[in-house]
Amino acid sequence: MSGTTVVVLAAGKGTRMKSEQPKVLHELCGRSMLGWVLEAVLGLEPERIVLVVGHGAADVEATARKELAAAGCEGLLRVVLQEPQLGTGHALQVASAELGDAARVVVTYGDMPLLRAESLASLVTAQVAQGEDSTALLTAVVDDPYGYGRVIRTDAGDFERIVEQKDASVEERLIDEVNLGVYCFARGPLGDTTQGDLAALRNDNVQKEFYITDLAGIARAAGRTVVPVVLEDVEEAAGVNSLAQLAEARWVMQLRILERHLENGVRIEDPSTTYIDYGVEIGVGAEILPCTVIRAGVRIAAGAHVGPFAHLREGTVLGEGAKVGNFTEVKKSTLGAGAKANHLSYIGDATIGAKTNIGAGTIFANYDGKAKHKSQVGAGAFIGSGAIVVAPNSIPDGATIGAGAVVTRSAKIAAGEVWIGMPARRHSSGARPPSGERS
Ligand code: UD1
Ligand code: MG
Repeated sequence: MSGTTVVVLAAGKGTRMKSEQPKVLHELCGRSMLGWVLEAVLGLEPERIVLVVGHGAADVEATARKELAAAGCEGLLRVVLQEPQLGTGHALQVASAELGDAARVVVTYGDMPLLRAESLASLVTAQVAQGEDSTALLTAVVDDPYGYGRVIRTDAGDFERIVEQKDASVEERLIDEVNLGVYCFARGPLGDTTQGDLAALRNDNVQKEFYITDLAGIARAAGRTVVPVVLEDVEEAAGVNSLAQLAEARWVMQLRILERHLENGVRIEDPSTTYIDYGVEIGVGAEILPCTVIRAGVRIAAGAHVGPFAHLREGTVLGEGAKVGNFTEVKKSTLGAGAKANHLSYIGDATIGAKTNIGAGTIFANYDGKAKHKSQVGAGAFIGSGAIVVAPNSIPDGATIGAGAVVTRSAKIAAGEVWIGMPARRHSSGARPPSGERS
């Protein structure tokens, strides 16, 4: 047998998040914790992914489907409902109906967004190396082991069992090697709710829960190999249980994203004040200046300049060498190559042609109180400072809109015309008056 089934536990409520939203759907860097976890899981090229849901089941399932569909892997998903939730071991019992016949079963949590694909892979490698019936589990040596299950080893240093915080003796609580809750089990011995190790689980502990951790002890007691794999970068193991922990994890994830862009040749002057979400594409040599927020999915071509103090929201696309400067917000809009919006503007639901200049303080009024409307500005146009373009609107190539003009909706402007005033009217059809600097 070969292959891996991955089980993601995501049934918990996350009481300490103080939120109605299911815990695993809280976002960091524009993506849910569950999304990050599924990405790492896909790195294993699993045969199946079994998602255990409970609280907020429908929303959690929908998010998983969306993430996997985006990766072209929707077919891998099986969803099982765990209701009531009687512990992590019970969660795996419930999942057992969907485990299939892959050689091994990796179990991880939906609230460990920082765990890397490489770490999951090293866990699987260790399990495979130990042979068919073995178990591998991720552990870490931490400064403060409080709350974690402790790894009990024999005098020879071999794995013996895991003891939960609440069940541990005073001496056991001194152990600083902890269980991270991520396992690679051999499929065969696991069995299901009627036979095998899963059927042998008991809830005779302080919490009256079925512990997944007991599976490791059961395997060991049966003489099978259980190998702890010690995670080097403890940061990866951070489970998110509160908004404070979410904020900490967000920062770690943010650094990873920024580092990747820096490696790719994006000039980020001050990473500590630059926020770039997941799934942002930035071309080589683009410059991102401080205090800038770039949301998920934004695309920025090579040589573009962004910031300082710019806010690029979803659906923003910047062409080569385009500039978005101070206090400018862009949403669902495209700026063509060399287009500029350097100061104090809002560009929403608009397409701006190449080399067009959007003057300081220009607003695209895209919302009429009921619906959003689109605007188009052609190439080589000039929108004067403080203009308001009421959408829907279409301003053709080479047109000039005077400073302070209010272009009312669906204005009939022809290419190259000059419109001024409030409401804006045609001023001339001719070439723009010669002007010097236009930014
Ligand atoms: C678990 C481990 C502990 C380990 C710690 C690492 C057990 C018994 N203990 O403890 O050794 O140090 O993780 O973080 O496993 N869940 C379900 N269904 C349930 C219970 C939990 O899906 O019935 C999910 C939760 O949503 C969560 C995860 O499993 O994502 C862990 O559950 P939690 O109760 O937080 O386990 P810990 O007590 O932290
Ligand atoms: Mg618990």
